[in-house]
Amino acid sequence: MSQGLNSVSDTLRGSARFIAAKNELLSAIHAASSSICGVKQGSGGKEGAEAFQLAIQEFSKDRGRDLYFPFLGSGLGAGPWVELLDGSVKFDMITGIGIHFFGHSHPALLAELVDGLPGDVMQGNLEPGVEMKQLLRALLSRVGAGSRLAHGWLMCSGTMVNEVALKIVRQKKFPATKVLAFKDCFAGRSTAMQEITDNPGYRQGQPTYGEVFYLSFYDPKIGLQASVDRTLREMKEHLTRFPGQFALLMTELVQGEGGFVFAPREFYVRVFDEAKKAGLALWMDEVQSFGRTGELFAYQKFGLNEYVDVVTVGKMLQACALLYTAEYNPKPGLVAGTFSGSTAAIRTARRVLELLDEGHFLGEGGQIEKLSGEFVRQLEDLKSHACQGMIGEIRAIGGMIGFEPFHGKMEEVKAVLMRLFDLGVVAFYCGHGPYFIRMLPPLGAMDRAHITQVCQLIRQALTDVNHQLKNESSQEKV
Ligand SMILES: Cc1ncc(COP(=O)(O)O)c(C=O)c1O
Repeated sequence: MSQGLNSVSDTLRGSARFIAAKNELLSAIHAASSSICGVKQGSGGKEGAEAFQLAIQEFSKDRGRDLYFPFLGSGLGAGPWVELLDGSVKFDMITGIGIHFFGHSHPALLAELVDGLPGDVMQGNLEPGVEMKQLLRALLSRVGAGSRLAHGWLMCSGTMVNEVALKIVRQKKFPATKVLAFKDCFAGRSTAMQEITDNPGYRQGQPTYGEVFYLSFYDPKIGLQASVDRTLREMKEHLTRFPGQFALLMTELVQGEGGFVFAPREFYVRVFDEAKKAGLALWMDEVQSFGRTGELFAYQKFGLNEYVDVVTVGKMLQACALLYTAEYNPKPGLVAGTFSGSTAAIRTARRVLELLDEGHFLGEGGQIEKLSGEFVRQLEDLKSHACQGMIGEIRAIGGMIGFEPFHGKMEEVKAVLMRLFDLGVVAFYCGHGPYFIRMLPPLGAMDRAHITQVCQLIRQALTDVNHQLKNESSQEKV
């Protein structure tokens, strides 16, 4: 790995003994995970089911809150399938809200975990390992033509890299501190991020500091021109009301939790041009969309490379990072942190970037575009045939795929999610009403046949819930 540097660490990893042990371990994992090859129910009988329920109950009690689904992973999976503690297997179409793009037990990622074993478990700011250097370089070398992003920092969560993004911009723009963000955005749940996140339900009992002001996002119903006019009018109002007090505009180019909503490039260009003229920094929160839109960075998908001052990424990377231009490089002392991540996770993150390139996932005609197109085609087919009247809007960009079941009411969405779970598909929801079924599928481990199997289960779930809804409404009439 570090050629010519001659460390004992590299010698160890290259030694016949280490390689033989690694191969043995990987082959044992492969042999075990190969038996996970399709949806199945738990096989432990009544006793197994009771033990599983007990484990779920104990965990819920310790957490002080029920789990959304009765989901407790066993620690193994294979490709798009995840095994639960009771031995049942499900299609994982939400991947821990976007963590496992390459599915479960991916051999190349497991190999990185093993190579990460000899060292210390965690690493951080004061004594970084070579893995941190390599990951940061790998990210910075991929920012794309025209991008001014020149430096970066690694941290353990999307919320933390967002915190740092806010801090470095505020330091540069001092005394301007206020934030413009788009309605329905999500930025995390720390004290500062929950104020940016446009969801009062997520900050009950928490103070807000009057620092965040919202702009309307693009609305296809009113079209491009009216959307731009409305957003610019609102921006002007805020900037006029608090002159010299706004530091930045935060944008999720594809809103994740907000319902997989995104705008055409022209909307961003016109809004960002005005924001730049007003001296605002442009921060893109790509924690959820990174690697998924069909380009590595979502700003590349929309051709906005030169606009970005700060970008934050996480989730499928297996590590979290913010990248920023030289102008926003903070003064010493502002940013540190004991943990930057586990050695194995940081190695794995570098490998994720390589796998995206090696497997031709990105770019026009790339695997993400192909598989996403196939998913949408099959969902459209359900909408116009087997599930007529049960699917409203379908929204997708690359590996962010959602659909509106029935009228997009939360009760309907939850009923479909629970039925899907019973049938063997784990998905989640997004949107702020209408609500959507949200999928962040492991496209890195899926093929057309998997998509067909998932869509058949979606069809079954929708049909079952449709019956249930009809029964309920006829009972009400009686
Ligand atoms: C857009 C966006 N920003 C920030 C976060 C917070 O990331 P984390 O949960 O890793 O703190 C998320 C998580 O869902 C996200 O989707």
